[in-house]
Amino acid sequence: MPPLSEWLARSPEDFVSFLQERGLRRFHFVTDPDTGRLIASHEILQPIADALQRDPRDFDAHEGMFFQVTRSHATLQGAFIHRTRRGQAAGGVRYWSYDTVEDFVRDGMRLAIGMGQKNALAGLWWGGGKGVMARRRRDTEEDPEVRASIYREYGEFISALRGCYVTAEDVGTSVEDMAEVFTTTRFTTCIPPALGGSGNPSVPTARGVVAGMEAALEFRENGTLEGRTIAVQGLGHVGAPLVGFLLERGVERVVACDIDAENVERARQQFRDRRFEAVVVDRDDLTFFDVECDVFAPCATGAVLRPETIGRIRAAIVCGAANNQLEDPARDDELLRARDILYVPDFLTNRMGIVHCADESAGSVPHDPLIERHLDRDWEHSIHRTCLRVLEEARRSGRGPAAVAIEQADRLSREPHPIFGHRGRQIIDALVRDRWYREG
Ligand code: NAI
Repeated sequence: MPPLSEWLARSPEDFVSFLQERGLRRFHFVTDPDTGRLIASHEILQPIADALQRDPRDFDAHEGMFFQVTRSHATLQGAFIHRTRRGQAAGGVRYWSYDTVEDFVRDGMRLAIGMGQKNALAGLWWGGGKGVMARRRRDTEEDPEVRASIYREYGEFISALRGCYVTAEDVGTSVEDMAEVFTTTRFTTCIPPALGGSGNPSVPTARGVVAGMEAALEFRENGTLEGRTIAVQGLGHVGAPLVGFLLERGVERVVACDIDAENVERARQQFRDRRFEAVVVDRDDLTFFDVECDVFAPCATGAVLRPETIGRIRAAIVCGAANNQLEDPARDDELLRARDILYVPDFLTNRMGIVHCADESAGSVPHDPLIERHLDRDWEHSIHRTCLRVLEEARRSGRGPAAVAIEQADRLSREPHPIFGHRGRQIIDALVRDRWYREG
């Protein structure tokens, strides 16, 4: 058997077999608040905790990481909790296939930090967390019954965490899956409207992107969207309504692309407007970055802003919905700045997804003021005000907007929840004391 830290390089399936052979179904890594050391629940797993703690890129004193292997189909599931000072750790559960345990854990750690930044800058009283489930290469999960049981067991796992993490929908997970999660835990959002949830957040997300564009145009040249040319990459759930809002705002032209011909055709049918044109592109075709425009809006996949694309962009502003647009945040934030392209960090403008579902357990009213204020110009945490604050500080300090936004988010994420204080930490400490891993 290889030394344990090598398990990070193994596949999730191999790791699950290793755990099963030792009768381990649940385990955790928790940062000791006194020593700062990441402590594993089981001595045999401590080398993995030590290896993670040495990682300067994705580990940032996460309060806790919890794991289980499902009873029915041996799926590896995780809940990653970065910081809970502002409230319960909140973020969706990603169901994705990972080559190695390291990829799985890194994704969870990185995404939990990102959710905390997004929540804090949105003024939400939530901390940063993320769920991750490793999709196995054997294809059985696609069987609806198997899939449902995986999500139900995920809900049991979240219940066992006693509310330090509240889950939601994310890549690979659907609203129907969230309904399964909801059968076994109350600590979830993004459940279907029929069950009292908030439904699809894509239209509000598109409105948030418009608010970000307006702030950037005001900041850069005291202008508005009227008469502008906008390039929209991706005509999916967010990109398509975004086109509609832009046309309503009186832009001169919207040029859009998608790799899916059906989506392009649907948008052409929906927007029969001489100001709109849409093209089908190949996945690796970079020519869309050459479109001359005022604002380039990435609304497809992540990591689209990297040296080879940034060099081609012919827009004054980049502002879109896609998550993690910068391939390497520090490098690409600076590259955009060096090219005098104003970058509006994605987690400022695409917050409406989490905003839409974050407080759904508090009920809803039509045109909910708690949600609408994010799109106002005046509320201190609105997209408009937050964007202006970040862009002004970036200009003043000569840094990239992403670096400034992260710094501001970090400060906000350390503010204690006004009612519950740092309760998440208390829950995690109790889970450790009670040997949580023995439950279930
Ligand atoms: P979606 O999957 O409905 O749409 C993405 C579209 O991009 C698809 O039509 C796809 O064919 C297209 N696409 C993929 N690769 C492309 C490429 N290389 N060039 C051009 N088009 C390409 O996803 P959705 O919901 O519209 O989200 C878009 C982005 O915004 C994603 O990155 C998502 O993570 C992010 N986001 C979405 C939120 C929401 O409320 N839906 C909330 C926050 C972030």
